[in-house]
Amino acid sequence: MLSTVSVIKRKSVRKYDMTPLQDETLNELNEFVGALEPPFAGKFGYKIFSKKEYDVRSGGAFGISAPHYLMFFGDKNDDNVLRNIGYAGELAALKLADMGIGTCWLGGPKSKETLDSSEYVICICFGTPVGELRGSENEAERKKLDEIASNYNDEQKEMLRYVRLAPSARNLQPWFFRCGSDRIHVFKVKTGGLMSKLALFKVLQKIDIGIAISHFSFVKFTIENDPQDDKGMQYECTLKF
Ligand SMILES: Cc1cc2nc3c(=O)[nH]c(=O)nc-3n(C[C@H](O)[C@H](O)[C@H](O)COP(=O)(O)O)c2cc1C
Repeated sequence: MLSTVSVIKRKSVRKYDMTPLQDETLNELNEFVGALEPPFAGKFGYKIFSKKEYDVRSGGAFGISAPHYLMFFGDKNDDNVLRNIGYAGELAALKLADMGIGTCWLGGPKSKETLDSSEYVICICFGTPVGELRGSENEAERKKLDEIASNYNDEQKEMLRYVRLAPSARNLQPWFFRCGSDRIHVFKVKTGGLMSKLALFKVLQKIDIGIAISHFSFVKFTIENDPQDDKGMQYECTLKF
């Protein structure tokens, strides 16, 4: 089960101590991701690379130099694969935050001389952070709760407090949660600008939705498909608690 402490502690770390982490830590992460049961029907692959075996030039392929990279592979045209990658990657990032390890999702396109796989989707770099992880939820720049959710009861409000802290590409937080008594309908909001029309951005925003859903993992839920209309928003799924 997800710990609220890890949700607060996790933040994007962009400067790392380049000393490799212990093999036991990498093995633990590998087993953790392998044992996850993401909620959508969509298979993906993952692999942990270390700088020593995967030589990313400083500021190179992914823009951030880190000792390790957790890379995800799969069909970028399958929304369920992308949501599952977001879900699994974020739970991995939260586990690492619990251990005091820094992470950053890296959605920029790979450079062609680095990874020779058309199935590559995204990675999370990680390692010992230079500096502290997040100390309090007020340090996170986020939309207000009422901008991302409606009709919530007290219990749902407490859950949404932590969902609100989910990371997203360019911090656009492209999600909205419409609550009912035992369910929450999840929508993707339209984000403006030319960027959001790019194919890469569509991929990243499906991953964002999976990330947000992973932040509900304090409680058990199942995913249902119960399409809802809400002006200007795209229905994603319904979480039933
Ligand atoms: C799918 C995704 C892709 C991202 N890509 C990048 C990236 O390429 N470079 C980067 O520096 N940060 C990237 N980020 C990190 C976001 O900018 C960051 O999560 C957001 O600004 C919120 O800040 P926080 O993670 O510190 O809470 C990405 C985040 C997500 C979820």
